[in-house]
Amino acid sequence: MENKVTTNHLEKMKQKGQKITALTAYDYPLAALVDSVGVDLVLVGDSLGMTFMGDDNTLKVTIEDVAYHTRAVRKGIKRALLVADMPFMSYHVSEEKALENAAKLIREGAEAVKLEGRDGITELIKSMLAGGIPVMGHIGLTPQSIHKLGGFKIQGREEESAKKLEDDALALENCGIFALVLECVPVDVAQKITEKLSIPTIGIGAGQYCDGQIMVTDDLLGLQNNFKPKFVKQYAQLSSTISEAVAEYASEVKEGIFPDNSHSYGPSPRHLKAM
Ligand code: KIV
Repeated sequence: MENKVTTNHLEKMKQKGQKITALTAYDYPLAALVDSVGVDLVLVGDSLGMTFMGDDNTLKVTIEDVAYHTRAVRKGIKRALLVADMPFMSYHVSEEKALENAAKLIREGAEAVKLEGRDGITELIKSMLAGGIPVMGHIGLTPQSIHKLGGFKIQGREEESAKKLEDDALALENCGIFALVLECVPVDVAQKITEKLSIPTIGIGAGQYCDGQIMVTDDLLGLQNNFKPKFVKQYAQLSSTISEAVAEYASEVKEGIFPDNSHSYGPSPRHLKAM
């Protein structure tokens, strides 16, 4: 495809000052819709544990779960770069296991994988790259470390933790990652990191100075009313649209309004003959 997005393409977008758009997808229809409007990067995020599976965090998501959703999403994507998340503990047990797990996602059609954090994974990132697997980084609020972080909260507010984020960002860039997600960090910290890196930063709850933005698609569509942190902007309220449609269907079935003749097949020829 002529303007297929590649990892190099994203770096060029940063150089030209063009903002990168990114969204999550877990299934074929939504992936196809997101891709058709020209979103640059689609992530099969382990956020699917919360949005798709209804869990309180992402820790139960397995490599098989992400591989399954990647297979579906792949079929809907023509232009965007498709990135799949390496879930909790799929890249910490051993390098061999981590490479095998990353390969599973690539075989399902992902073009890159995303890993959270920096500590203990820099050599692994280099091995993935040596094996031909592009890696996207993710620092700040890293949901797989939720118990270590003590909850879903903003990171890098103090000087020391902001400095650690900056060091991590530079170290990850030096390892060869092609882009870096900054999740829930103060706007000035994200801006400084963005200015220091030559690879693009993709923000979520990290303000307007990042090179691109990512959101969980379910959040921007307003699919769940019970989750609306400060950084989420709802561009639709699909939960009410869906509830209204389902309630109308249920009431029409109960009242005998649906199905009517216009939604039914006419009598069969055998039946007509008998009449
Ligand atoms: O899993 C996910 O959806 C993510 C994004 C929030 C960046 O990691």
